[in-house]
Amino acid sequence: MKLIFEKSRKGHSVSVLPPLDVETVSLPAGMDRESALRLPELSETEISRHYKELVDQVYGVNNGFYPLGSCTMKYNPRIDEEAAALPGFTGIHPLAPAEATAGCRKVLEEAGKLLGEISGMDAMTFQPAAGAHGEFTGVMLIKQYHASRGDVNRTKIIVPDSAHGTNPATAAMCGFDVVNIASAPNGCVDLEALKNALGDDTAGLMLTNPNTVGLFDPNILEITRLVHEAGGLCYYDGANLNAIMGRVRPGDMGFDCVHMNLHKTFATPHGGGGPGAGAVGCKAFLKGFLPGSALMGDNAPIQVRSFAGNFLVVLRALAYILMLGREGIPEACETALLNANYLQMKMREIFTPAFDRLCMHEFVLDLSDYKKETGVSALDVAKGLIDFGIHPPTMYFPLIVHEALMLEPTETEDRETLDRVAEIFAAVKQQGIDDPESLHTAPHKAPIGRPDEVGAARNPIVRAEL
Ligand SMILES: Cc1ncc(COP(=O)(O)O)c(C=O)c1O
Repeated sequence: MKLIFEKSRKGHSVSVLPPLDVETVSLPAGMDRESALRLPELSETEISRHYKELVDQVYGVNNGFYPLGSCTMKYNPRIDEEAAALPGFTGIHPLAPAEATAGCRKVLEEAGKLLGEISGMDAMTFQPAAGAHGEFTGVMLIKQYHASRGDVNRTKIIVPDSAHGTNPATAAMCGFDVVNIASAPNGCVDLEALKNALGDDTAGLMLTNPNTVGLFDPNILEITRLVHEAGGLCYYDGANLNAIMGRVRPGDMGFDCVHMNLHKTFATPHGGGGPGAGAVGCKAFLKGFLPGSALMGDNAPIQVRSFAGNFLVVLRALAYILMLGREGIPEACETALLNANYLQMKMREIFTPAFDRLCMHEFVLDLSDYKKETGVSALDVAKGLIDFGIHPPTMYFPLIVHEALMLEPTETEDRETLDRVAEIFAAVKQQGIDDPESLHTAPHKAPIGRPDEVGAARNPIVRAEL
């Protein structure tokens, strides 16, 4: 596809400005542009077609199945978008007088109350703009807590090896040493390894439960007890909250603070860099360390972002929670679990599950044996799925499973879709046996084939040289 500048042709401009009906005023000397602004020149039809062409290249939940494990790519009810588009919310400025922002403050207050109830936490901040940002905020709470007690030798944060990469990265960014502990053979925390890692220098533990292989840790109460006994605090990575919301609360599992990816669990479109919100909740004894916001009237010790963060994302989350209500939230969670287990049962006939037991909201397949037999990797299979019109699952994560494909169907898919998906996986598997080369070079029907992903991340070219 051509860039809009490559499509530009002199004289094809669209005039959108009405005729000037006020006196022309010149800019002060020295502030004029030295050359005319370089804008593409296209007719209205050409512009419309250009953006439609772009839209057609994007794959979203509205196009089809999107089982990106650990990302909760679920259908977001349009009513949440409507709420977030109301002019009373979009037109407000955080520094507007208090009487003009009363409605916005009410949204934050209500969202804080309901998310506190869902997570079992006593206080909440909406400043963090993403899950990883929430982790940073939460671990800073732990750091401030120990510092406030003069307990300055607590320099270590324990992170299981199944953790999302942002966990150890966060702990390191906050100035802690990361202690990695290996998972037990059942994919959960190895209690002996945890006991060995705990000591006077433990600042805390970062944990996701259910973890990144989709397993709920049955020893969770013992885990948090052990950490507290050693004088550490427990941080809950709430990116997988979709799997427990309305049924189990991190606060009741013994966690002291938590972030919630509002942009996953509570219906905000994400992926591709859309706005997020990593709301952070904590128990009352940590409340004084929470970052606040002018809008929320707090005088907080740290700030991690301006004002109340991505307010419209919080608003969408509130609309979603209110729409689902006390019955709907656990029902969404239960359906997510049912769908994941239904699909896992179908998939185990096709590929080997990494952990052959009931899962929570997601599960992991291990394609090591299949690769040995056919030479076709998890990456090849993922790319092959694109030709069948479905988005690939998460690949090569978590790191503890080789040739991993992680699927999270979410609650918004129906049984017919899940049946069809299993058929597609079976067809791709057979394709790999019959014609491995066709999968090594897949996808064949997508606008982009196999980009150099590492190159794109390390050396992004974000400006076209024309
Ligand atoms: C388990 C887990 N923790 C943390 C994060 C980080 O969240 P975010 O992408 O919003 O920064 C993710 C994101 O996928 C995740 O799956």
